Amino acid sequence: SKKIILDCDPGHDDAIALLLAHGNPHIELLAVTTVVGNQTLEKVTRNALAVARIANITNVPFAAGCPRPLVRAVEVAPDIHGESGLDGPILPEPTIKLDPRHAVDLIIETIMSHPPKTITIVPTAGLTNIALAARKEPKIVERVKEVVLMGGGYHVGNWSAVAEFNIKIDPEAAHIVVNEAWPVTMVGLDLTHQALATPEVIEKIAAINTAPAKFVLELLEFFGKMYKKAQGFTYPPVHDPCAVAYVINPDLITTKRVPIDIELTGTLTLGMTVADFRFPADETCHTQVATKLDHAGFWDLIVDALQRIGEV
Ligand code: BDR
Ligand code: CA
Repeated sequence: SKKIILDCDPGHDDAIALLLAHGNPHIELLAVTTVVGNQTLEKVTRNALAVARIANITNVPFAAGCPRPLVRAVEVAPDIHGESGLDGPILPEPTIKLDPRHAVDLIIETIMSHPPKTITIVPTAGLTNIALAARKEPKIVERVKEVVLMGGGYHVGNWSAVAEFNIKIDPEAAHIVVNEAWPVTMVGLDLTHQALATPEVIEKIAAINTAPAKFVLELLEFFGKMYKKAQGFTYPPVHDPCAVAYVINPDLITTKRVPIDIELTGTLTLGMTVADFRFPADETCHTQVATKLDHAGFWDLIVDALQRIGEV
């Protein structure tokens, strides 16, 4: 099985990523860490714990991380995720307790206490915690198997013409993460805009007919409404679980090895993930971008995870 740490800011699509990681038999979820992003740290952490209750995730440590980006002011996304960060469903009171450690320490301790190259970090939010972890304990960089992050896009943005939200809110952190020597797979908007929750998908999730599946339907209903209003999407793109799906089965996602860097000084292009497609990448290139999604295969994984989670 594949060991992962999920670093997230739930967030509708983060919540679904967490359910996929928990419900899929090939994933061993070692830790869930939260970071400011879609909403304040306090709100997204509460949301993560509420999702844990909904899916009955009881044996995984959850820890809160950074309440603001490294350099920039906090920027949240109520026009997509609502005031709570997870608007739509009624959220239950969490039953599990937060791990007392800071997320950055939980990440470091988890990686250092496992054999080398066995843990994949899956960030589905701003990269503040991951960048700080790499700075606090540089040894994690060669110890991690891979970083599979949702963020960026090589030809499109959503928080500016050319920048994606997770990168734009903390570009300095993203710069640290893509420039460290660990293998990085960038699952960006080019890929996640293919992960649309179409009416056929909704129908399949509805047919499961359990409380966790109903929770996902309510999430997707709100998310779809907001994506239509804010960004003109007919069906919402469900970004974050794509990164988890890639860890589960890389065959679902085509990738291309290219150098990536983050724009930190552009006035129009701040937070752009600049991917260099000009040359065939050499062996020293440790970054790749996701290009093409197997839509049916991806949604089958989500449906399968919800079926396995069952009625909790
Ligand atoms: C990303 O931004 C957040 O709002 C989503 O949860 C996702 O991680 C998409 O740009
Ligand atoms: Ca997210």
